[in-house]
Amino acid sequence: MYRTSNNVLMNHLFLNGSKKHGVTTLLLILLVFSDLCGAGEKDFRKQFITNYKTFQFGAQEKLVKGTSARHMQAEIRTLVDEAMTTNKDYTDRLYMLDVANAMASAYQHWHGDIKALTKEIEKLIKAELKQEEIRVAKLMRWKKEERFLGNFVMKDHMAEMEQAGVAPVIYPHWVHRIWFECKVCHQDIFAMNRWRNKVSHQKIESGKQCGVCHDGKMVFGVKDKGQCTKCHIAGKPEAEKLHHTDKIDHARIKQVAERVGAEWNIENLPEGKVPVDKFGFINWLNLKENGVFKPIHSLREGFAHEVRDNKILFKSKGKIDDVIFDHKVHSNWINCSSCHPEIFRETTTNDVKMIRMSKGKFCGYCHGKVSFTFADCKRCHNQKKGAGKAGVIIHQGAAQ
Ligand code: HEC
Ligand code: HEC
Ligand code: HEC
Ligand code: HEC
Ligand code: HEC
Ligand code: HEC
Repeated sequence: MYRTSNNVLMNHLFLNGSKKHGVTTLLLILLVFSDLCGAGEKDFRKQFITNYKTFQFGAQEKLVKGTSARHMQAEIRTLVDEAMTTNKDYTDRLYMLDVANAMASAYQHWHGDIKALTKEIEKLIKAELKQEEIRVAKLMRWKKEERFLGNFVMKDHMAEMEQAGVAPVIYPHWVHRIWFECKVCHQDIFAMNRWRNKVSHQKIESGKQCGVCHDGKMVFGVKDKGQCTKCHIAGKPEAEKLHHTDKIDHARIKQVAERVGAEWNIENLPEGKVPVDKFGFINWLNLKENGVFKPIHSLREGFAHEVRDNKILFKSKGKIDDVIFDHKVHSNWINCSSCHPEIFRETTTNDVKMIRMSKGKFCGYCHGKVSFTFADCKRCHNQKKGAGKAGVIIHQGAAQ
């Protein structure tokens, strides 16, 4: 019977992904107990948990036999009640229920019948696991809506959206990139950061954020009841079209391009299709080279389109090929102020490391989010190791 409750514990450690967390929770629980209980009780629980966690079956038997049945029942009941208070999160709650379950099992073994309470605890644990399953599924559901590179699910106001009966929003970066360079939005309309803008309908309706364009004139607006689901689309079958390039309606793209002053030249599409890389994401450079599209730089009059025309060589420290960073390609699309000084200082001495990129720093600020992913090694490691190149600037790295 110990096995059953340990299974629950293992499950719970597994679900939460780390043993460390389990230990932290244990400490936390011990702290909570020391606040709640009298000295005798505290010692019992502390000892019980220690034995339980370290598989000291002999010591556990001695402890349980040496504690009165009444005392133990009270311990279990308090523990269950404490676990079910509303301020507990899933991890803490399940952990406490698991300990209570183990106590009930031990009681049953050495003191006698306690089936009703055991059943109650098992039911509570089952319900918790079920709820967690639903929560994880929900989380994965929104993750799924971001599977196409550059699709962001926006759901800060989840409660209000649920109340209004609308789904969360998908902001499809890639659709907008067809007509607009990054410069159009970053930083004039949006900070290049998912947490800084605090997007809301109030701002949109007052002509800011999405409302700069989605005003009901230039582009469909946010007040028209018939149009809500164009943006509030996450999780709906209609969202499929935002996850595939083969569902693109070229005639509409062209129409919109003409309306906003961009170009979409269907006749230049290689083999009549949007070129994608081996991961299925749009190859924007190929589109540009083939003259398929010409997005606009800015919505502002007198905007200065600034380009820096040089290349920076990152010499590889490992066996892998070197990296050429093309300032021209990047500054054609992106404002200097989007990269400098926040992502890179305007020097060659930034401490760029692959491990930090994979966590969203440096090149990883865009690559893997809205630009081709890190799995595509050769697209960055594109220069034979040690071959050098005339006219390039050499990245120095941080002084050691
Ligand atoms: C039509 C507007 C628009 C265009 C064009 C646009 N973006 Fe964005 N971008 C957004 C919005 C909206 C967000 C999300 C802001 C938020 O959630 O607060 C965003 C967020 C980002 C983020 C933040 C990601 C994070 O994890 O914090 C990056 C990086 C980004 N964009 C890069 C680009 C790049 C590169 C381009 C050009 C290739 C581009 N964007 C073009 C509207 C745009
Ligand atoms: C720079 C102008 C601009 C901004 C800013 C902008 N959009 Fe758009 N958006 C457009 C245009 C143009 C279209 C194409 C409309 C059409 O098909 O008539 C569009 C279309 C869309 C579509 C439909 C895509 C499809 O293919 O069905 C969605 C969804 C959308 N925008 C969401 C948003 C959201 C959410 C925001 C703000 C976070 C936003 N947009 C900000 C210009 C913009
Ligand atoms: C151009 C895209 C777009 C359209 C069209 C649109 N919304 Fe939104 N809506 C948004 C964005 C973006 C948010 C902020 C999402 C978030 O919580 O992060 C939002 C948020 C909301 C919220 C949460 C409360 C708030 O103030 O932010 C409600 C409710 C809502 N929308 C209802 C509607 C209804 C009803 C319609 C149709 C009449 C509609 N929306 C049309 C983009 C749109
Ligand atoms: C996509 C991001 C990005 C954009 C946009 C960008 N830079 Fe850079 N910049 C870099 C990187 C990466 C380096 C090299 C960092 C290193 O080696 O430590 C760099 C280095 C520099 C340097 C020092 C090396 C050199 O080229 O002389 C200057 C100056 C500079 N940038 C200016 C600019 C200006 C001006 C613009 C706009 C026209 C611009 N950058 C746009 C990423 C960017
Ligand atoms: C601010 C966003 C941003 C940052 C930061 C950034 N990139 Fe890019 N990068 C882009 C965009 C946008 C493109 C255009 C192609 C695309 O989106 O797929 C691009 C294209 C490229 C290309 C293909 C162009 C070519 O020359 O063939 C390479 C290689 C590349 N980036 C390397 C890097 C490296 C290396 C770094 C870091 C030193 C970096 N990028 C940082 C946004 C960014
Ligand atoms: C978006 C561009 C980009 C992509 C994609 C990329 N790298 Fe890198 N990588 C860099 C840059 C820039 C450096 C240079 C950092 C430095 O100076 O050490 C680097 C450095 C490295 C290094 C040297 C050690 C280190 O940690 O800095 C290794 C190894 C490496 N990359 C492996 C890979 C592998 C393997 C892949 C594919 C899974 C990959 N990279 C994809 C940009 C990229």
